Amino acid sequence: MANTLVVVAHPDLSNSRINAAWRNAIESLPGVTVIDLYGRYPDGKIDVAAEQRLIEANDRIVLQFPMQWYNCTPLLKQWIDDVFAPGWAYGGGRAVAGKTLCIAVSTYSKASDYEKGGRYGRTLEELTSPFEVLAFRVEMLYQPGFFLSGLESLSDEELAISTEQYREFVASCGCG
Ligand SMILES: Cc1cc2nc3c(=O)[nH]c(=O)nc-3n(C[C@H](O)[C@H](O)[C@H](O)COP(=O)(O)O)c2cc1C
Repeated sequence: MANTLVVVAHPDLSNSRINAAWRNAIESLPGVTVIDLYGRYPDGKIDVAAEQRLIEANDRIVLQFPMQWYNCTPLLKQWIDDVFAPGWAYGGGRAVAGKTLCIAVSTYSKASDYEKGGRYGRTLEELTSPFEVLAFRVEMLYQPGFFLSGLESLSDEELAISTEQYREFVASCGCG
């Protein structure tokens, strides 16, 4: 069975509605390791060797974060910059080649804002395309992302449905 590493990169999980529910739903799944990036590195100093070992021990990497200014959270960007280093991920290294990368993203704005012709004029797939290109560059397989938009009007029932779908997404991601 493939092993999955989920990197939860929320700056304030204790005040999170979506990402905390998602995290709680997946942390006891067999074969799944969940790390809370902000809790793990409160000083922002990432242990690159430890993170590389974690990735090497897993077949699939899920990056889970709330959208912030149409981007990932800053510590996740730093994690990528530091961990996907030359000589390891590319430029002579192929440590992640053949592994699977995917993202799980929450937003405040509603789904229709992220449609072609919508308020922002860009889809979530377009806004998160750097992750797809990153995967290509380091020879990873890219799985379509998991998105939940519209915290502004999200009911408890909708969150429960998304949380169950996310559990299935993490349990099955990359197996196809
Ligand atoms: C600094 C900052 C920037 C944000 N930028 C966006 C954004 O660009 N688009 C959006 O829809 N929501 C944005 N949000 C809202 C968060 O994405 C939203 O609150 C989060 O996804 C909800 O998940 P949570 O319940 O796990 O916190 C932003 C929030 C913060 C704090």
